[in-house]
Amino acid sequence: MSFRSRFYFIFKPLLCSSRMTNVFRERLLANKVAFLTGGGSGIGLAIAECFAEHDAAVILAGRNAQRLETAKAQLESRRAKVYIEPLDVRNYQSLESAVERTRQNVGEIDLVIAAAAGNFPAPASAMSPNGFKAVIDIDVLGTFNTMRAVYPHLRRPGASLIAISAAHATVPFAYQSHVCAAKAGVELLLKTLAVEWGPEGIRCNCITPGATADTEGMRRLAPTTEIQDRARARIPLRRFGTKEELASLALFLCSDAAAYITGATFVCDGGQSLSRSESSFASAWRAAQPGQ
Ligand code: COA
Repeated sequence: MSFRSRFYFIFKPLLCSSRMTNVFRERLLANKVAFLTGGGSGIGLAIAECFAEHDAAVILAGRNAQRLETAKAQLESRRAKVYIEPLDVRNYQSLESAVERTRQNVGEIDLVIAAAAGNFPAPASAMSPNGFKAVIDIDVLGTFNTMRAVYPHLRRPGASLIAISAAHATVPFAYQSHVCAAKAGVELLLKTLAVEWGPEGIRCNCITPGATADTEGMRRLAPTTEIQDRARARIPLRRFGTKEELASLALFLCSDAAAYITGATFVCDGGQSLSRSESSFASAWRAAQPGQ
């Protein structure tokens, strides 16, 4: 057994940030390079942690340099191979430069997670055109820029590209017209890339989280306990999801077990999207039942 393998087996328990991914073979992403936008916090960072735990080199790209530094230190303390790229996904040139640095310093890119997103609640009638544009630009243009910048240099066949979507892509939500329009665009963009780049062995999929605990989105959209309780009561599994559960799904999609999956959207929401079909009468009846 090599020194590296011996080291790994002895210290592996110290490297694990969660037990969630233990159902997968160890070092599932050894020798892979993963580029993540929105990688400094939230779902993007949770996926980076999971991928690093499985031995991928991770490149965290995001707008907030301080947040990226903190995330890097946190991952490096668990001996991850981590690089940071402070950038705005709305700026194509900065993405091109980051990809070039990655190629020189780390290697060709295998996995891409487009998790950078913007959101704030506002009625369409009071939203400025610039506010609408900000979210469209971050979500749709930013996802296109990311995928377009990495495309010429993806290791192929085998590359896996994932965008983080939302239920907004298919269901209208009041005060979220910008996000609904943006996420619908992101999902069709990924499906189109799946068609165009599939012949080269590049897979493109979306993940649709539901209400996920401890994320910026939840802090903005469900800021009070009352709103959170009401939201939780409408989820069939009666709890919010975790970032680690989304990371496990991303890990699966980047593994060989998903080799024939492309152009798909995976919903990971505890059944939340199903509960919208429940009539208000059914909701009221259920609320009146003991133990509900
Ligand atoms: N309500 C109404 N309008 C808002 C707003 C809010 N809460 N926040 C920003 N805007 C508008 C601004 O007023 C501005 O429009 P204006 O020029 O007509 O005044 C426009 O959006 C751009 O604002 P700016 O501050 O320049 O934002 P930005 O370009 O840096 O974009 C946002 C960032 C707006 C998306 C911001 O909400 C953000 O970065 N959020 C953090 C990420 C996040 O929400 N993640 C969770 C995703 S689920």
